[in-house]
Order: sequence, then C-alpha cells, then structure tokens
Amino acid sequence: MTPGFPPEHLSHLLERTALVVSQSGEIIREHDLLPRRIRHKASPKDLVTETDIAVELFLREHLGALVPEAGFLGEEGSSGLGLDGLAWVVDPVDGTTNFAHGVPFVATSVALCLDGAPLIGVVNLPLLGELYSAGLGLGSFCNAQPIHVSDTATLLEALVATGFPYRIEEHQGTILRQLALAMPATQGVRRAGAAALDLAFVACGRYDGFFEFALNPWDTAAGVLLIQEAGGRVGRIAADVPYRLGDPDILVSNAQLESALRALLTQACAPAAEA
Ligand code: IPD
Ligand code: CA
Ligand code: CA
Repeated sequence: MTPGFPPEHLSHLLERTALVVSQSGEIIREHDLLPRRIRHKASPKDLVTETDIAVELFLREHLGALVPEAGFLGEEGSSGLGLDGLAWVVDPVDGTTNFAHGVPFVATSVALCLDGAPLIGVVNLPLLGELYSAGLGLGSFCNAQPIHVSDTATLLEALVATGFPYRIEEHQGTILRQLALAMPATQGVRRAGAAALDLAFVACGRYDGFFEFALNPWDTAAGVLLIQEAGGRVGRIAADVPYRLGDPDILVSNAQLESALRALLTQACAPAAEA
C-alpha cells in the first residue's frame, strides 16, 4: 500500500482522473474538425498546435483541483520541473504530427507519480473512442473492461511496434539495424506515431512488444503502469534492468517475449556514442 493512498482512495482518484481526461478529449474532437494552427518547437519536425496548449491548460486546472499538493510536469509548459514527490506527468497530445495531418492515432497521457513511480495512469484515444486506465495494484482497463497483455510466445508470431525520435540523426544507425533484425524475425513491425498509444496497445495485447529511444517521462509514465498492471514487462533495450522514467530507451512486452526481443535488439545496439 502506498503511504497516503490506500486502495479505495486510489480507486476513487483513478475514476475522477479518468473523467477529467475523458472530458479533455472533447477539446481534441472539436479541434479535429477545424483547420490546424501549427508552430515548430526545437526543429522543423517537432510541432505544437493550439490543441496541445488548450488540452494541457485544461488538465493543469482540473487535475490540480483533484490533488492540489501534486506538482505538474506537462510537455508544453513546465520544463525544469522534476519528478520528485507527487507529480502529474502529462502529455496533452501524444502524436501531434498525426493530429496535424488528420491521422487519428492521437493520445492524451496522464499519470500521477510518486518520486517517479506511477500510481495512476490514463491514456485516452479520443479519436478512436478508447480510454485506458490503471491504478497501482488495481489492474488495467480499457473503457472500464479489464485488459491483459498477449500470450504470444514466439517472435515469429509477434506483432511489435516502435517509434522514431525527432532527433533521428542521433539514433538512425541503431534504429535501422534494429528494423533490419526485427522485420524478418517477427510477424510485423508497426510505427503508429504516438508512444502512449503504442504502450496501451501492448497492455491490451494488440501489440506483443514495443521499443523506442529518447522518449520523455510524459510519453511513458501512464503507459508503463498500464502494461505492468496488465501483466507485462517494462525494461530497457540493452540490459535486463527495470525502466525508470527519464531513461533513454524502453523495451516493453509480454513476459514470454521479453528476453528474446532484448536478445534480438541488442545485436543492433550501437557503439556507446550513438546509443
Ligand atoms: C512523439 C510520439 C512519437 C514518438 C516520438 C514522441 P509527440 O510525441 O510519441 O510516436 O516516436 O518520440 O516524441 O511529440 O507527438 O507528443
Ligand atoms: Ca509525446
Ligand atoms: Ca505531445
């Protein structure tokens, strides 16, 4: 039991968090009908729309009211704020490039973390009508129905997913080597363009595994809890160690596939300078 969060309190907080996140999805659905106003962030590929900002403002206000003592680490507005103590960790629109192009693989990812460990995770897919939620020790759900990772036992039967960081040049060699290994060894490799959706799809068993470099805590915080509570594994690509928010790479899967997937991907791992 987490201090200050007995299971019945956590369960109630999860319900209220899911409601707030679900309400924020209305902003994304409304804006999806309008022309996009797009700005560039650090690079011409890294976009932000007025929707990212509007959803983050909504969540900051309403999540702040739920747990006033928690900090707020949101992708669009709180750089510099760390993961110490109790904090909401929020990606208002994960899959902004998809959203800018009208592709509906768009997620909102919200986690409540204690010293970087997620207690509550909600991933909403407002354009697909799916809301995923998990609470530490409470299980993992899609639209309130329990979910579980797949029981796929071999790589050849496995559908895996990955993503590409914006600063692709830093990782391109390793990523291309990983794809060259994973494409023939598995049933297929997908790249939806929204890491929180990828993690939710592992939690519910659609994907059997997912790996990516250079994700941020707001991309993964909710999804890792979804997977852990759905019976899956959350680790690192090149070593059998637990993943912690902020680590530079992530490998998730069902329990049977973890070591085979790691062994495959490790063969592609680059010299230290590139990884
Ligand atoms: C991005 C998406 C994408 C992943 C990138 C992320 P954003 O998040 O999750 O799938 O490959 O690394 O930065 O910018 O759309 O919130
Ligand atoms: Ca993101
Ligand atoms: Ca984002």
